[in-house]
Amino acid sequence: MDANSSNVIKKVKWLKTFLDLNRFAVKDRVSPEEIVEYYTITDFPFKKFFSKQGFMHFHVSMDGKYSPEDAYYQPKTVSRFIHSGDNVMELGFGKCANLFYLAGQHPDVEFTGIDLAKLHPENTFSNVKLYYQNYSDLSNFADNTFSVVYGIETLCHVIDKNPVFREVNRVLKPGGYFIVYDYAIPKPLETFDPDAQTAIACFTRVGAATVAKTAEGWEEDFLRNGFKRESITDLTKNVLPDMKRMENVALRIMDSKIKAKVAFETMPDLLVGNLLPGFMAYDLYNEGYMNYKEWIFTK
Ligand SMILES: C[S@@+](CC[C@H](N)C(=O)[O-])C[C@H]1O[C@@H](n2cnc3c(N)ncnc32)[C@H](O)[C@@H]1O
Repeated sequence: MDANSSNVIKKVKWLKTFLDLNRFAVKDRVSPEEIVEYYTITDFPFKKFFSKQGFMHFHVSMDGKYSPEDAYYQPKTVSRFIHSGDNVMELGFGKCANLFYLAGQHPDVEFTGIDLAKLHPENTFSNVKLYYQNYSDLSNFADNTFSVVYGIETLCHVIDKNPVFREVNRVLKPGGYFIVYDYAIPKPLETFDPDAQTAIACFTRVGAATVAKTAEGWEEDFLRNGFKRESITDLTKNVLPDMKRMENVALRIMDSKIKAKVAFETMPDLLVGNLLPGFMAYDLYNEGYMNYKEWIFTK
């Protein structure tokens, strides 16, 4: 993408006329405490603007048009790998929307959820067990236990994926599936235009995630930790309708410099910061600076 015609670069230049983006772009906030703080503060906006059903991941629209039902794309895909009698684990279950959906679809399957934070409504499913812990350490689970382990937009919070991938490989049964949805960059961050680097860093770090890793880097981590590739699917164009929807929410404030300046001067960073990914996500993905991926690997 030519920097002169890029909406991402134009937006960063506009933001820099009234906002110090280093406030949002520079520091990784990925300790367990910071992640819990981020999700606790943003609980209400997630519910109000993102998904009333409690999904905390991008909606995947296969027909090019946004629908709230598109949030089911990821759990429906996971569902295809689940069989009667299986044990299944979700890493970073958030508000339990995926787990509760899958538990209803598969009453004879045992589901285990791992998350740092309790953000979800009451668990009324007898086949769902929830653990509040860091998934980098799964030592309370035996080797070769699960048929499927999946993580939807959660591993972006982890700088070094290797300890988690090692643990997942250990608890998976031979032949079991590891299914991951997350974002990646197509080339190393430092090779992008500096303003694009700022936009990418804002997009990730505002949400207490670590700066995006290359798709190649993700794939090396899967292979290094003993997984075999089943399939890799690029869903970037399919998340664009959701990103346009979130851009429209952000534009309620970001359509005017005065409104944006007041918002950034008066609201807490953890809350107002979310206007930045909302404002830039569509262009970041549409212009090829970031990708959304489905990785399916086996043990
Ligand atoms: C963007 S939300 C996604 C929630 C859910 N997967 C979904 O699709 O709706 C990311 C979740 O991962 C959790 N998380 C992040 N790092 C974690 C870690 N190291 N251990 C356990 N949970 C973690 C966060 O607390 C948060 O609930």
